[in-house]
Amino acid sequence: MGRIMNKVLVIGASGQLGSVVLNQLLEAKQECIAFVRPSSKFSPPSSDYLQVAQGDLADAASVEKACVGIKQVIATASSIIPRHGDKFGINEVENYQHLIKACQHHKVEHLIYISAFSSPFDQLVPEFRVKRQIEKLIVDSGIPYTIFRAAAFMDIYYAVMGSRLAMDGVLHPTLLRGFWLTKLYSKLTFGLLENRGIALLPGSGKVKQSFICINDVAAFMVKALTVPSAKHRIIELGGPETLSWHDVSDIYANVLERKIINIVIPSFILNLGRVILRPFSPAGENIMSTLFLLSRHDCAIDMTEPCKEFSIHMRNTRQFLLQKLNSQHTSELT
Ligand SMILES: NC(=O)c1ccc[n+]([C@@H]2O[C@H](COP(=O)([O-])OP(=O)(O)OC[C@H]3O[C@@H](n4cnc5c(N)ncnc54)[C@H](OP(=O)(O)O)[C@@H]3O)[C@@H](O)[C@H]2O)c1
Repeated sequence: MGRIMNKVLVIGASGQLGSVVLNQLLEAKQECIAFVRPSSKFSPPSSDYLQVAQGDLADAASVEKACVGIKQVIATASSIIPRHGDKFGINEVENYQHLIKACQHHKVEHLIYISAFSSPFDQLVPEFRVKRQIEKLIVDSGIPYTIFRAAAFMDIYYAVMGSRLAMDGVLHPTLLRGFWLTKLYSKLTFGLLENRGIALLPGSGKVKQSFICINDVAAFMVKALTVPSAKHRIIELGGPETLSWHDVSDIYANVLERKIINIVIPSFILNLGRVILRPFSPAGENIMSTLFLLSRHDCAIDMTEPCKEFSIHMRNTRQFLLQKLNSQHTSELT
């Protein structure tokens, strides 16, 4: 990326996506400020280009303070997988109102936000309803913006299939953030794919998704800072290929050179889970709703034009897995 004179404020820098955004900015020698909660388990990368601002989106004064002198903001923070003490979704819109107000006050010139892919089923998934409200606030705010509506992340959903490799080398795994359901699920299924040759497929496994790796999502968010045509746009973001869950399992079998047995989690179970969890765990309901959506409805995104426009060459599933394997071998050797 071309260097920007001002510091970039990264909101959500302790998250799985936010930490990759931060690292890519620092690698490009871009000065940035990581906005993190005092209670966060964030270990800042050592870099002369990094400053840390403690604060909380729920605390308007801290957001206001962090935005002083800032012209560009990248925001990935969310409570979708809530940490202990967070309440899923409830305060998310209000929190982003604080950020938008501070951006308006300090005349921020570009706000880049990560949202979820478009679907005719937004009403089904609580997270999607929250994202659309935040998108509207941003669009109506008058602040120049880029909103990326991303498809399912490989790093997250391949781990949901039981892959340990997908989480390899991840500093801040979303699934291990301290939410009981994802922690329990990860405990039961972690490494099932590599250790036992079992892949868990949502629904019939035949529905196709435009899986994208977090590195590429981060690359688009970072590039948006310097691509002039990125402003005032909502951009759908998917991976370089559209694959069914079965296709992903076949690629794993090929890359790992082993037979994989597929076990499907029928859509009706995911739907039932969503209804059962609704009264006592909104975050649990949200996870089940997302999986239900991903098990039932295709999502295909043609990335030919965005890749040209942003000069980004994306990684497909095979390349993503091979890269993970390579870095595993390298770290074993050192
Ligand atoms: N997973 C997918 O397939 C997918 C697809 C499309 C879009 N997305 C979107 O991508 C984003 C995922 O990012 P991620 O993986 O980095 O999420 P994550 O690992 O769950 O991280 C969430 C981040 O938000 C921060 N945060 C939460 N509440 C905050 C508050 N009140 N003030 C300041 N920071 C706060 C957390 O900080 P703490 O460390 O203090 O908790 C953490 O850094 C989400 O918005 C998600 O909706 C995901």
